[in-house]
Amino acid sequence: MTAIPAGVLDPSAARPLREDLAAAGFRSTAVAGVLGSAAEGSLRRGSTLAAARVLARPEARAAGAVADLTALFVAGLAVPADRLAAALPRLGVEGAVRAGLVALDGDAAVPRVELAPHQFVDPDGVGEWWVASDLGEAATGGPLRADHVLGVGGASRTLAGLQLPRRAESVLDLGTGSGIQFLRAARYGRRLVATDVSERALAYARFNAALNDVDVDLRAGSLFEPVTGERFDRILSNPPFVITPRRPGVPEYEYRDGGLEGDALVETVVRGVAGHLLPGGVAQLLANWEDRAGADGRDRVAAWALEEGLDAWVVEREVQDPVLYAETWIRDGGIRPGTPEYDRLLAAWLDDFAAREVRSVGFGYVTLRRPERRRPSRRVEREQGGAGGLGGHLAACLEAQDWLAATDDDALLTARLVVAGDVTEERHHWPGEEHPAAIELRQGGGFARVVPVDAAAAGLVGACDGELTVGAIVDALADLLESDPAELRAELLPVARELVATGLLMPAA
Ligand SMILES: C[S@@+](CC[C@H](N)C(=O)[O-])C[C@H]1O[C@@H](n2cnc3c(N)ncnc32)[C@H](O)[C@@H]1O
Repeated sequence: MTAIPAGVLDPSAARPLREDLAAAGFRSTAVAGVLGSAAEGSLRRGSTLAAARVLARPEARAAGAVADLTALFVAGLAVPADRLAAALPRLGVEGAVRAGLVALDGDAAVPRVELAPHQFVDPDGVGEWWVASDLGEAATGGPLRADHVLGVGGASRTLAGLQLPRRAESVLDLGTGSGIQFLRAARYGRRLVATDVSERALAYARFNAALNDVDVDLRAGSLFEPVTGERFDRILSNPPFVITPRRPGVPEYEYRDGGLEGDALVETVVRGVAGHLLPGGVAQLLANWEDRAGADGRDRVAAWALEEGLDAWVVEREVQDPVLYAETWIRDGGIRPGTPEYDRLLAAWLDDFAAREVRSVGFGYVTLRRPERRRPSRRVEREQGGAGGLGGHLAACLEAQDWLAATDDDALLTARLVVAGDVTEERHHWPGEEHPAAIELRQGGGFARVVPVDAAAAGLVGACDGELTVGAIVDALADLLESDPAELRAELLPVARELVATGLLMPAA
């Protein structure tokens, strides 16, 4: 099956297509209902067989247009042209062919693109996008082409969910691919600019912008070159961060590989952000980083940002050993284990990691800020848990961290704090003992942090109901615990700061 050359997807088809998809009820919940979770999972793992069986059942056929659109654009299966005509009455089959969405093979329409609905939820409510991208491995039945344009995957959804739900005058989406990040950013961004080095990706982004009725300034070029001299309030990037050996015969995929050695592409993006953020602006990136002998990857990322004068908040979500990492990305390219090609590539990856003494590879998200009138700050951590859609939590934490930066210890003692509504306390006792052996604060939302505290800190948190000042609570605790008030302040103020910075305590309104 041939994929679409750049510029063939015709944005003028977007409007009738949007109306047809809406009228057919082609939404995530409807697609999930037609396919069922087992067939959906199998499609994600690269096989169309289970989906084809489900879609051939009478109950799926009874779903009409949604089932046909799902078969064609989600499962990558041919459907009779007359049924497609009924599913797309405004665009028509000819219009779909002209737009580059399908090709005709006798009486059958065969898909030339993947086109799927994606639901999202943010503080403004539930929304849905339709995103067109290249057909995946399941539909093409072969390895991906080097200039493959990715659909909406797990990483795309992670970054989309992390986006701060706060107004931004200008937003840059660097390496936009099929455009998922600017579609999400359109909820709060006034002026959107998106770049990509791939003309094919930009063709999809242009089509998806039109399909979802979003205005975006699309620019071709590598990294920050298309925005030379411009600054933004927000920068978003799920860059091509996959670490790939620079050796002859190792395939390079534009959608995941930035062409530099090790994690140098991530360093280039982190450092490059500094020249393109307005004061107070925030960049949100996904990245891989190498843990090298004697150098933790998260510390390396934070150091690049601090050297450029940016706040760094590096959250590691996952760590893989070099073998597992290499296998993951070799399989992602469609190469199966047990073949000589697989072994050749695995050897290339392991030699490459060995050359830089790489012990493991971390994956996570990086929040960078250009601070206004203060020195840059640094937070480096490992995610303990937490669901998707952390954008609102991240935004609240950044605001709390700004409040802390403007509040010295004397001011903190006169401040009133409240415990966040999702915080619970757990106490663990040795059997028969009156006093707890361990106390933990648990955050229900956000990063689902579990914070061990001592009795004094638990007492402070327990008394933070917005009535008493922090100073009054600490003095009362010193009385109760027969401690020196000055020593207890010195011990508890940093604890209170950390709990505010991470959203377990909040300044009272
Ligand atoms: C992992 S994909 C992310 C796509 C999309 N933003 C998302 O979140 O799903 C990385 C994108 O970066 C693009 N890219 C690769 N090298 C680039 C470069 N040097 N400059 C700009 N974009 C690049 C690829 O074409 C691809 O669209």
